[in-house]
Amino acid sequence: MKAIKRSAPAKINLALDILGPRPDGYHEMRMVMQTVSLCDTVTLAEGAAGFSLDADGDFLPAEGKTLEQRAAEAFFRELDRPCPPLAVSLEKQTPAYAGLGGGSADVAALLRLLRQWYAPELPTETLERIGLTVGSDMPFCVRGGTALAEGRGEVLTDLPPLPPCRIVICKPDFDLPTAELFARVRGRVFQGRPDIDGMVNALGTGCLEGVAKRLYNVFEEVLPEEARQEVRGIKTALLRCGALGAAMSGSGPAVFGLFQTEEEALPALESMRMWYAQTFLVQPVGRLDGPVV
Ligand code: C5P
Repeated sequence: MKAIKRSAPAKINLALDILGPRPDGYHEMRMVMQTVSLCDTVTLAEGAAGFSLDADGDFLPAEGKTLEQRAAEAFFRELDRPCPPLAVSLEKQTPAYAGLGGGSADVAALLRLLRQWYAPELPTETLERIGLTVGSDMPFCVRGGTALAEGRGEVLTDLPPLPPCRIVICKPDFDLPTAELFARVRGRVFQGRPDIDGMVNALGTGCLEGVAKRLYNVFEEVLPEEARQEVRGIKTALLRCGALGAAMSGSGPAVFGLFQTEEEALPALESMRMWYAQTFLVQPVGRLDGPVV
């Protein structure tokens, strides 16, 4: 049976600002997003019947449709073709519900696989639009690289790449539902805001320190008290281990620190791993619509 495979790299938010609520129920965002080398692997094969998804042995779901199935159906609607029987399997490495876009990365990789197989000529912008039908961060997860994301998260502007560096990501052992955190933002005036224009300028001049000192996520202000303390503790520990800067990613609770070199990052990796099993050493990844990864 024919099968093709792709990596599904996670993302971090170098900066995350929430400008305010929108009439459609979503929030207006301004974020600097970065793809990183922490990856799931997605395999697409011809199925026997319908759509099947095998996530590391777990066959999902008992009821309703997975995001993967909804995205595949939207893909074939765009091509004006019936959705053929498909068998998708995921090998997970990225922690779920962490603010690392793990679930969206898998769906994005599936869309890239579907394009490779069924419609190689389909522009990335179309794939991003299909992705948006299942989630706000999908367009970025389809495109990858370094980008400014505005609107719901779907209005993307490519940015100069993050200078070569190492990133230590640490996922504490609790989940923060995204919708709940957005609900905590309502009516709130943030005490601090990220200097996104300054970060964009720092990327333009290739200044890692300039990016690192501007890492900022307004969601950190609305975390429940216990979560806030744990996130703050991880940031402090990463900075003590020599990180140039640290912040929570997305709606959390994963926290990351930027380091100039692997040598400088390794002590942080080792030290954080003693407390948090889900600690990873990764590096930045460029746009994902090039040759097959
Ligand atoms: O788009 P997605 O389904 O990933 O969003 C999950 C939830 O996060 C939405 O239901 C909404 O409550 C919130 N959200 C938001 N503004 C955004 C993105 C997400 O309020 N820009």
